[in-house]
Amino acid sequence: MAMSLQDRFPGVHFYNPALTEVQDDVEIGEGSRIGSMTILHEGARIGRGVTIGSHCNICHCEIGDEVSIQTGCHITRGVVIEAGVFIGPGVVTLNDKLKSGPMSYPRIGEKARIGGGSTILPGVQVGPGALVGAGSVVVRDVAANTTVLGNPARAVS
Ligand SMILES: CC(C)(COP(=O)(O)OP(=O)(O)OC[C@H]1O[C@@H](n2cnc3c(N)ncnc32)[C@H](O)[C@@H]1OP(=O)(O)O)[C@@H](O)C(=O)NCCC(=O)NCCS
Repeated sequence: MAMSLQDRFPGVHFYNPALTEVQDDVEIGEGSRIGSMTILHEGARIGRGVTIGSHCNICHCEIGDEVSIQTGCHITRGVVIEAGVFIGPGVVTLNDKLKSGPMSYPRIGEKARIGGGSTILPGVQVGPGALVGAGSVVVRDVAANTTVLGNPARAVS
């Protein structure tokens, strides 16, 4: 019989284990909390004390300690999210240019905050401490500790 999620990850809280899919070869650090209707795909690496809300699709990516990801996010393969990042609801990261060309993976630096409903395009690097306003489409790199807004997202002066 397959092991239960609680047996596989004793230090992790699943809000409703029957409604969460965790594929093979996933790591989740102690003290993390995972919401319902969320899928953690094979190869996902999730740090300690991470919160992932409900209805999230978390691909083969790397999520640092104390990251918080709200409900309804799609985090694509290859993304790196550093420690202490906050991601609002409904955020989408992307990793290829409509099935052409090589994949390129966003990276979100330590303690950056991504507003709800934002989209982070392939390969974009969001610097540590940056703030992305709600509903932004982030098409180019964001410098550390900078606020960007809008579509395309531009720095606020
Ligand atoms: C970016 C943000 C932090 C700015 O907050 P603020 O400093 O209080 O800014 P203000 O509300 O005073 O707005 C300043 C200007 O920016 C504009 N603005 C604010 N947020 C914007 C956004 N997300 N996109 C585009 N423009 C925005 C305002 O319209 C205003 O423009 P104006 O000066 O021409 O009138 C905030 O608007 C935001 O997007 N927060 C994210 C919320 C979120 O996603 N939370 C997730 C947890 S639920």
